[in-house]
Amino acid sequence: MAFTPKLKLTSLTLTAFRNHVSTRVQPGAALIALCGHNGAGKTNVLEAVSLLMPGRGLRGAPYEDLVNARMSDGRGWAVSAVVENDGLETRIGTAFEPRPAGEDELSPGSAASREVRIDGQVQRSAGALAGHVRILLLTPAMDRLFAGPASDRRRYLDRLAAVFDASHGTRVNALERVLRERNRLLSEDRLQARWLDSVEAQLAEAAVAVAAARNSAMAIVAGFVAQGRDGARSSTFPWAEVTVDGELERQLIERPAVQIEDEYRTLLADSRGLDRAAGRTLRGPHRSDLVVVHGPRAMEARLCSTGEQKALLLGLVLAQARAVRDTFSGAAPLLLLDEVVAHLDAVRRGALMDELLELGSQTWMTGTDRHLFEAASGEIEVFEVADGQVSASVRREQETA
Ligand SMILES: Nc1ncnc2c1ncn2[C@@H]1O[C@H](COP(=O)(O)OP(=O)(O)O)[C@@H](O)[C@H]1O
Ligand SMILES: [Mg+2]
Repeated sequence: MAFTPKLKLTSLTLTAFRNHVSTRVQPGAALIALCGHNGAGKTNVLEAVSLLMPGRGLRGAPYEDLVNARMSDGRGWAVSAVVENDGLETRIGTAFEPRPAGEDELSPGSAASREVRIDGQVQRSAGALAGHVRILLLTPAMDRLFAGPASDRRRYLDRLAAVFDASHGTRVNALERVLRERNRLLSEDRLQARWLDSVEAQLAEAAVAVAAARNSAMAIVAGFVAQGRDGARSSTFPWAEVTVDGELERQLIERPAVQIEDEYRTLLADSRGLDRAAGRTLRGPHRSDLVVVHGPRAMEARLCSTGEQKALLLGLVLAQARAVRDTFSGAAPLLLLDEVVAHLDAVRRGALMDELLELGSQTWMTGTDRHLFEAASGEIEVFEVADGQVSASVRREQETA
């Protein structure tokens, strides 16, 4: 049985990106393992892949930080890829040029942006990347997802919603922009009621749109979580029950969006005094949280052991990947699994790779030891990474029973 991902990168090029001067990876297998010592440049490759979607990438780092610090030509970085989706090729490129010294003072505060090209055509913004490559990722930083601040879980939720709905990122940005505007107006000595009315109307519209998109993403994922719960699918990784804990999200399940929007606008107008005193907008979807419960244990994820949390996160990502695959006519999302396999015992590693092959995702994994990847019963391609260079792959193909 051949496991050929429907959506995959057939070529990835990093230029002056972090510790990579010029790196090209041309994967042929569904499972890709990047092996090498700490600091070799493995995560940097995954970060480059993550920049093929909108946003700041896997580490959320400023684009300036991605410029290869050892190359002193003052030029920026570039990442390009050939994406194949159901046999159709798209070339995606993204690049960043640091502004010459002195220009920052001319436009202080404006974050430098990256250029995006799709099939050679310069795009208006990185938002144009949405919908071209769908990616789910799992990184060591996400170990604290369940126990850490709600803002991390919101970002996680919104990133997931953006995988299902390409315009979600723009929506979230709009919500944040209008929120800042309202908070700014509230901080002025004299309240400008007319301005506030108008900004609050925009805020209510953006808030309801964001909440509704989160709900629909969760509803799709819930269907796949249910397969685990009802035993329709057996997995080594536990199923996770996920719900959005948010006022608007909850209301939207019961009543029409127009009504919720009206009510939230009224609430905003009524709470100007309170919000002004607090220095921020106290209620709305920018305060929502994601509640995750370890299904088999019936225990809130934040109360589970570290090992249980890691397994749960994997179970959740696998369910999300299946949901994405079935939403987009069988094209499973790319998965970036940074330092994930090292934490699993050999049996679970093997089970994970079997599930990944069955899923049909092109999966990019990292690990310090190539033995970690020997558990795969199917096709896996191992690349050696050392000092910002990726060596030709060693390909292993075994017949699966
Ligand atoms: N902008 C940069 N320029 C040059 N090297 C960088 C830059 N940013 C990070 N690095 C280097 O990249 C290496 C880390 O790469 P990373 O991919 O995280 O390693 P790992 O293989 O352990 O995942 C470190 O040695 C770090 O110093
Ligand atoms: Mg790393």
